[in-house]
Amino acid sequence: MSESKKSSKASLSVDGKTIELEVLESTMGERALNLSRVKAETGCFAFDPAMVNTAVCRSAITYVDGDKGILLHRGYPIEELAEHCTFIEVAYLLIHGELPTADQRQRFSRLLNIHSMLHEDMRSFFGNYPEGAHPMAVLSAMVVSLSSFYPELRLDSDKEEIDTTVTRLLSKLRTIAAFSYKKSIGEPFVYPSHKYSYCENFLNMMFRSPVSLYEADPYDVAVMNKLLILHADHEQNASTTAVRMVGSTGANLYACVSAGICALWGPLHGGANQAVVEMLEKIQKEGLTLDQVVAKAKDKNDPFRLMGFGHRIYKSYDPRAKIAKKLCMAVLNKKRLSDPMVEIAMALEERALKDDYFRERNLYPNVDFYTGLIYRALGFPKEMFTVLFALGRLPGWIAHWQEMRQDPEQKIMRPRQIYMGPAKTDYVHIEARG
Ligand code: ACO
Repeated sequence: MSESKKSSKASLSVDGKTIELEVLESTMGERALNLSRVKAETGCFAFDPAMVNTAVCRSAITYVDGDKGILLHRGYPIEELAEHCTFIEVAYLLIHGELPTADQRQRFSRLLNIHSMLHEDMRSFFGNYPEGAHPMAVLSAMVVSLSSFYPELRLDSDKEEIDTTVTRLLSKLRTIAAFSYKKSIGEPFVYPSHKYSYCENFLNMMFRSPVSLYEADPYDVAVMNKLLILHADHEQNASTTAVRMVGSTGANLYACVSAGICALWGPLHGGANQAVVEMLEKIQKEGLTLDQVVAKAKDKNDPFRLMGFGHRIYKSYDPRAKIAKKLCMAVLNKKRLSDPMVEIAMALEERALKDDYFRERNLYPNVDFYTGLIYRALGFPKEMFTVLFALGRLPGWIAHWQEMRQDPEQKIMRPRQIYMGPAKTDYVHIEARG
């Protein structure tokens, strides 16, 4: 195959037949070869395990430059959004395409408050999970259950119905997350209140109890806003692709988001924030040296990987990790806390980044390396870390789901395979087998 940089065509030859492939331009960043007619014109599929080289859609939501460590949402740099916005403003930006005016923000906040309660019948569901149930399991099951209590969207639903469903989900996921935590520690649920902002409400539902008059510290509210913003979207990652994949079948929004939550749970994706702290605790408990840990991560016969390190797209420092690292130090300072896990994390980062193995492969801390340590400082147990990631990622999932529904190129997602099984075989009756 040859490709001329100047022309916007590439050519591909298969069995002596040459076809032209369109080179698709993006507004920023990399180009792509249009392979949508490759099977029809050559008889061959494209083979791309794990979709490492495959763009599955055109999207106007988030831009990532993994070599330069740039992340933009609707054009705005993550650093500026994290510095100046609340999570709700970034959610609005992702979902509606622009930052809200003061009036739009007020209306959005009011809607979020209106929809914050869960149907009272859903309370009993929480009671039926066994002690120790992981809150991610509860979260995904509760989200899909919402479809039995609230109207689903139809393909012809109007804007108002879509806005209501989207706001309902944004608001209720926060209540479900807090209730799942209260259930896990055996405390009564704390209901949301209209007097609080989004993050304040969440912290209140998490940490208030009948015997403690907890009021969220405004500093913690600001930190919570920043953390959720850092997770708000990251283009076609595994969980967003799961949302789009399920959405491509026409399944309802609750089902799509529930699938996204399940995909996020894995330790190679959002579950890494819990896995990082577990790794640090193990290092401390077993008295492992940093050399031992790094050697283990490099050993190809050992499945262990340095959790919170490496990324499919970032081949430089993840800009979210940069913000999280700074925030982690600021939070510990402000709270006058010293956490041995943070000390181990910083020393481990320094040790790994000096190592040729990590340098040659461009493995840097990702967003999950420091965020769990901040959640810890705010008082969250580690089982809740991935739930917090899901709460942050929800606006991104919704934005992608909406974009997918409006995309004229959208069809049911249905990848192909290279069949490697047996050729057609005659059926053998059971008496004749063996
Ligand atoms: N520790 C040790 N080696 C690593 C690590 C790691 N954390 N990450 C990648 N590598 C090595 C691989 O073994 C591979 O080595 P090789 O070239 O000798 O075979 C090379 O670096 C490239 O890695 P791949 O696995 O091909 O990278 P991929 O893009 O498939 O995986 C992933 C990315 C899953 C994030 C990987 O880096 C990883 O497992 N990291 C640890 C888990 C983690 O932190 N996940 C959170 C990601 S961020 C997010 O989802 C929010």
